[in-house]
Amino acid sequence: MSGFDADWLALREPVDHASRNAELAARVRAHFAGRAALTVVDLGCGTGSNLRGLAPLLPPCQHWHLIDGDPALLKAAGRRLGGWADSASPTETGIRLEKDGRRIEVRFECADLTARALDFADSGDAGAELVTAAALFDLVSEAWLERLVAGLALRRVPLYAVLNYDGAARWQPADPLDAATVAAFNRHQRGDKGFGPALGPAAGEALAHLLAQQGYRSWSGDSPWELGAADSGLIAALTAGVARAAGDIEPARHAAFADWARRRASAQAVTIGHQDIFAHA
Ligand SMILES: C[S@@+](CC[C@H](N)C(=O)[O-])C[C@H]1O[C@@H](n2cnc3c(N)ncnc32)[C@H](O)[C@@H]1O
Repeated sequence: MSGFDADWLALREPVDHASRNAELAARVRAHFAGRAALTVVDLGCGTGSNLRGLAPLLPPCQHWHLIDGDPALLKAAGRRLGGWADSASPTETGIRLEKDGRRIEVRFECADLTARALDFADSGDAGAELVTAAALFDLVSEAWLERLVAGLALRRVPLYAVLNYDGAARWQPADPLDAATVAAFNRHQRGDKGFGPALGPAAGEALAHLLAQQGYRSWSGDSPWELGAADSGLIAALTAGVARAAGDIEPARHAAFADWARRRASAQAVTIGHQDIFAHA
């Protein structure tokens, strides 16, 4: 168990897809246009949302290597992808999908990204032409990200990282405890999520810097969640999660944050800032 539950990932998936920065997505599509086939590695794939969001932009024949540390999420990924595709059949290492005229071969790997090689040189990764990750890099440490970018640079592999939380969170109408709650939540985001001290809201900037050091050209764009009345389930779950994290980091205000969550669960509008980045050498 990773602490990321499949129901939470399902709740956020439609909003994640709608929030992706459209200019950057068009740049990714254009970069790989004209190719017949592409091999993609998805880090921290969860139940496969990134594949479902990105595959429509990529060439007609795709090989995806989905990596996650949580076997239950990988199992759910197989089910969700099978349901999403027009047709699906099992293979020795994963699943073969047909979707809107695309052939998508998916291979699953259960691995801890903190322990796994990141040079994309082992037999499974060899030939990776794009590495991607969704909602992952705010969890990782600067040292891990440095290792990843150095690994990418060895073979000049492009990177497309979407939905990196940037620290901006706003509930409307405003509440007197909003600023203190968001500040505590953002401090919690810098805690260790298994990779060492997490970059949290600093992930986008750190990534752009590391990519530039390795001679990559990179483009960033905002991809905020703009939640409204239609997203009441996500607003309630998100608000409860923010209050829990804030209470973990400031136990003395646990009850105050819980009260805040009760008031905010029915907020009319919530904005959560994210950044997408696409980079190639
Ligand atoms: C916020 S979720 C995002 C999932 C998916 N990319 C999406 O957009 O729905 C983060 C994912 O990273 C995975 N993860 C976190 N730490 C990991 C680690 N050390 N090794 C492998 N996977 C990890 C979790 O299991 C989870 O699926």
